[in-house]
Amino acid sequence: MTRIGVVGAGYVGTTAAACFAHLGHDVVCADVSEDRIRELRKGEVGILERSLPVLVTEGLESGRLVFEVGARRAAEGTAFVFLCLPTPSADGGAVDLSALEAAAREIGPVLEPDAVVVVKSTAPVGATRRVRRVLDADGAPPGVSVASNPEFLREGNSVEDFLHPDRIVIGCDEPETAVRLTGLYSGVPAPVVVTDPASAEMVKYASNAYLAGRVSFINAVANLCEAVGADVRDVALGMGYDPRIGSDFLHPGPGFGGSCLPKDTAALLHIAAEAGVDLPPVEATVAVNTRQRERVVEKILAALDRAPPGSPVAAWGLTFKANTDDLRDSPALDIVRALLARGVTVRAFDPVAGERAGGLEPGLDVTVDPYDACDGAAVLAVLTEWEQFRWLDFARVAELMAVPQVVDTRNLLDPPTMRRLGFDYQGVGR
Ligand code: UGA
Repeated sequence: MTRIGVVGAGYVGTTAAACFAHLGHDVVCADVSEDRIRELRKGEVGILERSLPVLVTEGLESGRLVFEVGARRAAEGTAFVFLCLPTPSADGGAVDLSALEAAAREIGPVLEPDAVVVVKSTAPVGATRRVRRVLDADGAPPGVSVASNPEFLREGNSVEDFLHPDRIVIGCDEPETAVRLTGLYSGVPAPVVVTDPASAEMVKYASNAYLAGRVSFINAVANLCEAVGADVRDVALGMGYDPRIGSDFLHPGPGFGGSCLPKDTAALLHIAAEAGVDLPPVEATVAVNTRQRERVVEKILAALDRAPPGSPVAAWGLTFKANTDDLRDSPALDIVRALLARGVTVRAFDPVAGERAGGLEPGLDVTVDPYDACDGAAVLAVLTEWEQFRWLDFARVAELMAVPQVVDTRNLLDPPTMRRLGFDYQGVGR
């Protein structure tokens, strides 16, 4: 079995480290945050990520997974060092590579003579070669090789996606490096695409931009369905049976959010602009997405116009999607923020992130119960598709609300049932 270092104990790094340990490797996972490492050593993952706590505990108990402070610890005596560091947006959609470069600088001098440094963070085309240059300039042994191995993990499902991926993409210049890297994934049944670093980096951006494009496409179709009296859910169902189309990523909603699709579409546009190339489909994807969030705000404001002035709005769900506690670039939070900015009182409930969201938005009233949020409200906005919202007592909700109006941005609820209970119901594209 191989000794692997992972730099960065965020959701990608912790998942990669725990899964490699699960596959039988010896893994050192390092982070700059002493607090995070202290918690991880106790098996506390700190993010809502199904199956990850179990795998971290398994790794700690078997001794195959250890957590250390500082990137160097992940490079001492390890054959592979995976860089899983944040690559946040900089101005104008550019990507800030400083964490990646700082880690490369730190590990360079302590790398084993034939170590492979692997960029797993989503980083723009050219980033892997930039890491190579930093390593060369900072005293890495000449036999060190560098590769790109992008991740395709969905938050909330990262362990499953790591252990059962649709594909493994490896970008490097030397065939031996690709063979060694592929060997780490033995036991993971997936096709392996071996290419150069720039193409591997592009696979990641093009994939996320394509997924984002599907969401914007179906959102645009949903808006057209509303105008012509069609039901987008049946439209998506009818489209999805065509194997060339498929049914995934055809759920309309308040627009895509999270830490990946918005950032990666902006970054791809930036990469294209720098290369002097137009990318109209991605431009349209982003424009539709911005407009989709605004449309939800407009629907809620129009419903409020039909209620006594000053009536509050109840918001259910604040994370960017269900089954995660991540609030980054959440359409739900963005919509709530837009309502607050217009002087609307919003009382929000979220199953996992309410308190944190309240801390981010000082004007936001957060409740610990979904019913409390509805007390006296004139509009209930369903903003995240948490399954548990489906099964609440809507007769009670109708009684609690001053005016029973629902704007269901996720098409989660059943319109005939809601209307029978006296609600004015609006979904998306139906
Ligand atoms: C996304 C990709 O799906 C992963 O493959 C990728 O590895 C990851 O980004 C990344 O780059 O790290 P994630 O951000 O966890 O994963 O979330 P998704 O499940 O893709 O959802 C993204 C957004 O699109 C959410 O706001 C979601 O509500 C929205 N969405 C998704 C829709 O509105 N409709 C859909 O049909 C699907």
